Amino acid sequence: MARYGLLSAAILVMLLCFILSADDVENPYLGDNAKKCGMCHKDQAAAWQEWPMASSWDKLSAEEQQDENCIPCHVTGYGQPGGWISFEETPQLTGIQCEACHGPGTLHMKVPIKDVEAKKASLAIPDEANCLQCHIEEGNPNFKEFKYDEAVTGLSDHFKAEEAEEAEVAEDAGATEDAGEAEETEDAA
Ligand code: HEC
Ligand code: HEC
Ligand code: HEC
Ligand code: HEC
Repeated sequence: MARYGLLSAAILVMLLCFILSADDVENPYLGDNAKKCGMCHKDQAAAWQEWPMASSWDKLSAEEQQDENCIPCHVTGYGQPGGWISFEETPQLTGIQCEACHGPGTLHMKVPIKDVEAKKASLAIPDEANCLQCHIEEGNPNFKEFKYDEAVTGLSDHFKAEEAEEAEVAEDAGATEDAGEAEETEDAA
């Protein structure tokens, strides 16, 4: 009897976990950002690939990759709904990927490409508070002083690429007309 009781309790817990993970997160992290985001944001993906933080997972030893004292700042979406769980369950979220700074991207992927304003609205432009989730001294054995303005400048190749990319994306999608309209609206305002 006790055995069956345990078994059904275990099944119940498993079911609950499944329901919670499947239904509760409206906008989970995608992971695998080099491919998934790079499909459209080619220049940003190329720039990011050159940053040390892209490979920050690989710099941890095998033990450190199991160590909850190290993992939070070396993966994407730690502690966030639909984010990092463990290497076994979410290997696509290792390292500091696009979504670590810009937030989860599932909804962004669903917005039609021509809908430029909705596309923009569906992902965040990070601010200093985002960086300070990880660029703090506490728990960080390799801490270097963090100056937001300098740090952002250090990454600027990534958003300077954007102007060229935007034109390219608009053209690819045949959305040149929409872009024209958007400009007119801006001029009128
Ligand atoms: C199917 C093409 C496509 C994919 C895939 C895509 N994006 Fe975008 N993204 C766009 C378009 C179009 C815009 C709006 C025009 C622009 O700002 O470049 C945009 C805008 C953005 C912006 C600017 C937001 C703002 O407020 O200005 C960010 C950041 C961004 N995307 C990040 C990502 C990330 C991260 C991923 C992967 C999770 C991703 N994108 C995947 C097409 C895409
Ligand atoms: C609070 C966030 C945080 C935690 C926790 C953390 N790190 Fe880091 N780690 C960083 C940041 C941020 C950097 C980049 C250096 C900087 O700007 O402070 C970094 C850099 C590194 C580097 C690269 C060092 C270099 O000079 O290239 C290694 C290796 C590393 N961490 C290992 C670890 C290990 C091992 C642990 C666990 C004992 C750990 N980290 C815990 C945030 C963290
Ligand atoms: C370390 C944090 C960080 C990571 C990782 C990161 N970005 Fe960004 N990204 C930023 C910041 C900060 C800005 C905005 C700077 C500004 O305009 O003030 C930005 C801007 C952008 C923009 C908008 C540019 C504009 O001017 O409208 C796009 C698109 C973008 N990032 C895409 C990506 C993609 C795709 C990846 C992954 C390949 C990525 N980012 C990874 C921090 C990051
Ligand atoms: C989820 C944790 C996390 C967040 C959020 C984060 N970083 Fe980092 N960052 C790291 C880690 C870890 C490294 C160390 C990479 C290495 O050396 O292995 C790093 C390294 C850097 C570096 C050193 C050079 C490089 O290209 O990797 C810069 C610059 C930087 N981060 C800027 C930023 C800025 C600006 C933001 C906010 C917009 C930000 N980071 C947000 C974890 C984070």
